[in-house]
Amino acid sequence: MTLVLKTTDEDLQTAAHILADGGVIAFPTETVYGIGADATNSAAVEKVFLAKNRPHDNPLIVTVSDENMLWRFAKKNQRAEKLISKFWPGSLTLILPLISDELLSHNVTAGLKTAAFRNPETAATRTLIGLLKKPIVGPSANLSTKPSPTTAEHVLHDMAGRIDAVIDNGPTTVGVESTIVDLSVKQATILRPGIVTADDIAEVLAEKVIDPVGPISVAAGMTPKAPGMKYRHYAPSKEVVIFTKLDIGDLKKNLQKGDVVAALDDSLARLEIGRQDSWSLGETAASATEELFSALRFFDDQKEVKRIYVEGLPLQGIGEAYMNRLEKSAGGQHFESK
Ligand code: TXA
Ligand code: MG
Repeated sequence: MTLVLKTTDEDLQTAAHILADGGVIAFPTETVYGIGADATNSAAVEKVFLAKNRPHDNPLIVTVSDENMLWRFAKKNQRAEKLISKFWPGSLTLILPLISDELLSHNVTAGLKTAAFRNPETAATRTLIGLLKKPIVGPSANLSTKPSPTTAEHVLHDMAGRIDAVIDNGPTTVGVESTIVDLSVKQATILRPGIVTADDIAEVLAEKVIDPVGPISVAAGMTPKAPGMKYRHYAPSKEVVIFTKLDIGDLKKNLQKGDVVAALDDSLARLEIGRQDSWSLGETAASATEELFSALRFFDDQKEVKRIYVEGLPLQGIGEAYMNRLEKSAGGQHFESK
């Protein structure tokens, strides 16, 4: 049985007790929902890997209630302090060297001497971690390889019966996972794009930031340095195809039975496609990012749907994070007119 909790004081107390007893709880953040367990309790962390079907060589994010909790685990770092004062709480995850590899459970770090630390914007989740007085792991609350959950309903779809509870805080606002920046290397390096961009980070650090856009491949057997580098990610079971505004004329002629479209409103209007066959991504890159995983999950569950066409966006601002997830969902497949 998976309990559905709200963000009331009483429910957060209940959640904290479950975590203290080694249980597993899905929690809200502004990006996507995560699965939490006491990050210092190996048996509890193991349940998270099991619930997600997650491979053990993929390390987990460590979610903290505030900066003080971070410095109990990570070595002090000036660049991190600068970024924290600007972006925490918020959608920026920092990879930092650990003070000791005895402080966190070994299955959190996959044997690395670093860990990924995140302090989410959602107040209820920071309160929960504060009540536990220990950090919680926080991978996205989906089955491995599936799109991340942006509502409590998505979480229950994948995780009902697999976890002890979910804290329902309504839909998330960002819609894709946090930016990950590696500060354990000489030059700050983006490992996963998110709403905080490389330019935002470079401005605060007043130094160049390495931002390898696009898919990076990793040799088999290596511990992945960035999420989604080694495993298929964010992917529904249906075929996903990316199109752009330039393709709309051809796409309109090519649409077949079983084809559905997720696109910005002006594109949907030009395609003249029925409501039941389309999902509005709103009017901006931000709204499209917020809606992307909902659209993929919705169509994935419709039996009649065979192919999902999704509008691609320019690689600017949040567009980089949006395209990073969409390219992986689509396995790099783009529309080609016949
Ligand atoms: O927005 C988010 O970050 C969400 C919410 C729930 O907080 N969490 C999330 O966690 O996306 P997850 O586990 O799905 O993605 C974290 C990624 C992992 O895939 C892993 O590859 C990478 O961070 N990671 C963790 N520790 C690392 C480390 N020490 N070095 C490099 N990458 C690391
Ligand atoms: Mg994930």
